[in-house]
Amino acid sequence: MVKKSWRFATLAVHGSEGGDPVTGAISPPIYQSSTFSFKNAQHGADLFAGTGQGYIYSRLMNPTQAALEREMAFLEEGEEALAFGSGMAAISTTVFTLCRSGENFVSANAIYGGTHAFYLKVLPRLNIGVQEVNAADLNHIEEAINERTRFIFIETPANPTMDLVDIRGCAEIAQRHNLKLVVDNTFATPYYQKPLLLGADLVVHSATKYIGGHGDTVAGIVIGKSRELMREMRKGVAQDIGGVISPFNAWLLLRGLKTLAVRMDRHTENAMRVAQFLAFHPKVEKVYYPGLRIHPQHELAKSQMSNFGGMLAFEVKGGLEAGRKFIDAVRLCTMAVSLGDCDTLIVHPASTTHSSYSAEDLKKAGIPAGLIRLSVGIEDVNDIIEDLEQAFKQI
Ligand SMILES: Cc1ncc(COP(=O)(O)O)c(C=O)c1O
Repeated sequence: MVKKSWRFATLAVHGSEGGDPVTGAISPPIYQSSTFSFKNAQHGADLFAGTGQGYIYSRLMNPTQAALEREMAFLEEGEEALAFGSGMAAISTTVFTLCRSGENFVSANAIYGGTHAFYLKVLPRLNIGVQEVNAADLNHIEEAINERTRFIFIETPANPTMDLVDIRGCAEIAQRHNLKLVVDNTFATPYYQKPLLLGADLVVHSATKYIGGHGDTVAGIVIGKSRELMREMRKGVAQDIGGVISPFNAWLLLRGLKTLAVRMDRHTENAMRVAQFLAFHPKVEKVYYPGLRIHPQHELAKSQMSNFGGMLAFEVKGGLEAGRKFIDAVRLCTMAVSLGDCDTLIVHPASTTHSSYSAEDLKKAGIPAGLIRLSVGIEDVNDIIEDLEQAFKQI
């Protein structure tokens, strides 16, 4: 029996149903099947007409995928969720659901580089417009809205600058203009931030990151406040585009969810210690971590997040050249893209994850050329700090 009064960590472990409702299995079964038999011709016809109960084909829906969607909707406190084969499939399907040719949306300009690349490379072919603005100032969002605008997209905290956007403020603007608000909640996870409760309509995740948590799965998910909108996304767009999650990957994410709270607690504890170490280091120019009191958006972070997470960024004195030397000198930290894994990952965004940004766009989005992004893992933090210290000695 699942109690509503249980806290997040308990709910994440026990799930919305307290195990598999059919067999009682604590670990849900993996339905590794592409197709499902009909009881008779009428049953098949009913399923296709949407009036029958059951499964048809795993591009349309699979029971393991459905179990993941139930749990993510439960933890984000939404009505319904839809899982995808990647975060980008989740984001692109969201855009195609909300916008048609000739329409547009307003997006924060500090976002994941792959999302920015999708804007640049794919949307112009479909005549979908996007206005990227500095969303730290909400006036910029409001000024960019016109009669063809359909939604606002923000990512908070943002990859890689850790910039925050005021979710409640954006929701007010969206309501005033009758637009949807979409929030990429990858960095915070529902453990630390629940955008739907702050006024958002849709939450998207690269579930590849903290939801999976072990660097072994690429996946995405959208969670919606309105069942109607989610049905439109599922039946009107997603099933035909086909960016579906595999049953095994859905199962890996269900397993990841059980440890989400403990992992996030450890990521955050470690990130705070690393941020403090960097903030006082003589070779560091600037640290970007909203958990530090010196961070300009620390108060906003406290007002919409319950904790600050495991991501941070910093600049080394000496700019790009010193930054590259630093990254080459680390030993424990793994030089790799992605984030939210158990292992600490280090990357130079301007030449990797954000290489889709021109020099001008980097400047506009406030991403310094020499910025280093650290996804702080769950190792012993003393080992992480010792590794960073030995790297500093080499530059
Ligand atoms: C904030 C954010 N959103 C979306 C994505 C895209 O997710 P995926 O790589 O799973 O397609 C990423 C990937 O790094 C990300 O960091």
